[in-house]
Amino acid sequence: TLEDADYRPHFHFAPEKHWMNDPNGMFYLDGTYHLFYQYYPDGNVWGPMHWGHATTKDLLRWDEKPIAIYPDSLGYIFSGSAVVDLKNSSGLGTRENPPVVAMFTYHDPIKEREGRENFQNQAIAYSTDQGATWRKYAMNPVIPNPGIKDFRDPKIHWDAEHQQWIVVLAVLDRVYFYTSKDLKEWTKVSEFGNGQGAHGGVWECPDFFPMPVAGTNETKWVLIQSLNPGAINGGSGTQYFIGDFDGKVFTPVKAMQNLPENHSYWLDFGRDNYAGVSWANLPEKDGRILYLGWMTNWQYAQEVPTETWRGAMTLPRELTLHKQQNQYRLHTAPAQELWAYTDTIRYQKQVTVDADITLAPGSEVDLTKTVITFSIPDVAKQKYTFQLTSAADTLTFGYDGNTDSFFLDRSAMATSGFHPDFASHQVIAPRISKDKQITVTLILDTTSLELFFDDGVTVMTNIFFPKFPLTELIAVQSIIPYQLKDVNINQLKL
Ligand code: FRU
Repeated sequence: TLEDADYRPHFHFAPEKHWMNDPNGMFYLDGTYHLFYQYYPDGNVWGPMHWGHATTKDLLRWDEKPIAIYPDSLGYIFSGSAVVDLKNSSGLGTRENPPVVAMFTYHDPIKEREGRENFQNQAIAYSTDQGATWRKYAMNPVIPNPGIKDFRDPKIHWDAEHQQWIVVLAVLDRVYFYTSKDLKEWTKVSEFGNGQGAHGGVWECPDFFPMPVAGTNETKWVLIQSLNPGAINGGSGTQYFIGDFDGKVFTPVKAMQNLPENHSYWLDFGRDNYAGVSWANLPEKDGRILYLGWMTNWQYAQEVPTETWRGAMTLPRELTLHKQQNQYRLHTAPAQELWAYTDTIRYQKQVTVDADITLAPGSEVDLTKTVITFSIPDVAKQKYTFQLTSAADTLTFGYDGNTDSFFLDRSAMATSGFHPDFASHQVIAPRISKDKQITVTLILDTTSLELFFDDGVTVMTNIFFPKFPLTELIAVQSIIPYQLKDVNINQLKL
């Protein structure tokens, strides 16, 4: 039977020990991608928060570093972000050695216990050694609480168009926008979100940045908005809005104005991608937006069956913005660095599925380190089902032509009863693409399956805990036999 050590991911970040939640303070500098994260170094459930730290040069192999920011008398260190202050606008470094400035939420547990409202405040810390060590700013907080309980998760962005720093902050059921010239003095300029999109829970961990619309000269602003609970498949999840920003006010595009509760603009329809945000200070010439999320769901995150460590991140992903049939949509793809580590070990053309067919046999491939792509041409109105299996486990996913939706089911995994919400219902995603052909990329690690359908317009990230290693990928027989085109199995060399 698999346990702790066997559940450890091969190429997704997870801390060596103890509890991790949201990614924080991600920035890139001199060839290194930094990741900080909500971390409790004394236990395997949520506790007084620190910022843990890890780095990577290739987005696949991670080095865990010493804890970066510790709680103090002002409170726990909740989620936030970091930027490289290239012009030293803050005066916290020098022009020659620009400081890295982080903004986080101080969560004061004492004030909270006393029943006060103002226990979450925004503060800054800075590093003059590329993120290795941090000093807290002497005049904290920089954005004091106006008397609202949920007031947290600042994400800073350098707004080149309007030559200003922006902070987007989650405030209960909306976001507040602030601007600044020096990262220390902040002015609130607007709000967005009341009555817009899903509100089944509290808005948390926003992100806000401009993006080019692929294949055009147009630029739009993207607001990424995590929500817990109330996601489309229950618990935690992340929706997004596309619009324009005049330096003060965000206005969604027409089709996304007054978006109802029930909409289809979700960055990920799976149950296990939360609080994700983008990297700051990426090389401009790359023009990439790189993103990563926390790969679990608050519903059961503290009860998943690992003991020494708890929590892993998604693969770093590239976001792109597309306009099709007058709709703006974010597409997600695994960061291309992944392909530097893959070897094609099995390539098949035109596989006829007229019985259960094994696409990836365990004798040839280690499924815990694989990327598999295939397409279904000329989709008919029937169910297309795929299974990942071990002697005791079945993980099922596919496409249902009758309802035009994708699905995933983990109720037949042997270890799924640790929490009633984990496997209680199928994960469903409406299909957005109208293409005749469905393509899918599967990224498999020990305890996670990331599914990118239709060029990443529909993404599903889900974790699972097999009793034995999954050894086979099977295309299950349908009513009408069909063909799979281009089944490509890549083994990761790591
Ligand atoms: C989201 C969140 C944030 C908060 C942090 C605390 O998962 O609740 O809103 O800053 O976790 O660890």
